[in-house]
Amino acid sequence: MEIVNSIKETRKHIKNIKSKGKTVALVPTMGYLHEGHLSLVKRAKEENDYVVVSIFVNPTQFGPNEDLETYPRDLERDSKLLEKLGVDLIFHPEVEEIYPKGYNTHVEVLGDITKKLCGRSREGHFKGVVTIVSKLFNIVSPHRAYFGQKDAQQVAVIEKMVRELNFDLEIVPCPIVREEDGLALSSRNIYLDKEERKDATILSQSLFKAEEMIRNGERNPKVIEDFIINNIKTVNYAEVDYVDIVNGSTLEDVDEISGDILIALAVKIGKPRLIDNIRLEV
Ligand code: PAJ
Repeated sequence: MEIVNSIKETRKHIKNIKSKGKTVALVPTMGYLHEGHLSLVKRAKEENDYVVVSIFVNPTQFGPNEDLETYPRDLERDSKLLEKLGVDLIFHPEVEEIYPKGYNTHVEVLGDITKKLCGRSREGHFKGVVTIVSKLFNIVSPHRAYFGQKDAQQVAVIEKMVRELNFDLEIVPCPIVREEDGLALSSRNIYLDKEERKDATILSQSLFKAEEMIRNGERNPKVIEDFIINNIKTVNYAEVDYVDIVNGSTLEDVDEISGDILIALAVKIGKPRLIDNIRLEV
């Protein structure tokens, strides 16, 4: 497994691999890997000849009051995990390699799709995500790129960007990996203390109960949203950012629960802001 910092060298490896007719996968990450990330890597490995994992804590997607400085990092541990899975190349650039002095080009998906849900409280976040992801696509030029449904809005925004900018690759969305008690795996879960960790299960529990209500016939999004908000408020440390029911691919609001439905939420539990969602066909 190669660990490469430079764009030029990464391209050299990819060119060589592609000249042999092999398929290339990219799994973009910010590191501090857990089983959620690794599930994308395993899937990429199954479906492609050559797997590149990028590890880059992308400063442009963090807001001024967010956790860029303290975002957890451990390249040594990450590389051991990836080597075990048979990853071919880790792309791990310095910030200056990606954003050299004077850098001033950005990609932005406009409209409601980036303004609602996480876009409301994280201004500029998706502009940063879409910019780094298009740069990674241009650097690695993969046949397929793997993203987790854990960040459902991120997947929807990237799919739109790929369609509208005609990137020649396939986006592969992958299911959410959860702890045994339902908590969605996240690098930010390490910020939770013992009490908060216990309370955090309220997110997935509320989503699963909402799914049950829908399976039992409830079709009013407001009723489900209110149920989830009130359920989450029963725990001490929770501060709801949003609970929204939208169309799963366009993220447009729905008047009635039917078809492709995404129930998404963001809640602050103590220090970290956690997100979770479920997508249903009703
Ligand atoms: P990061 O948060 O490191 O996540 C990398 C990938 O892992 C994303 O596609 C995310 O959805 C997926 N992932 C995280 N937790 C998961 C879980 N519990 N189950 C399944 N997949 C999970 O998302 C980013 O980094 C960045 O925004 C990035 C796309 C790398 C751009 O900087």
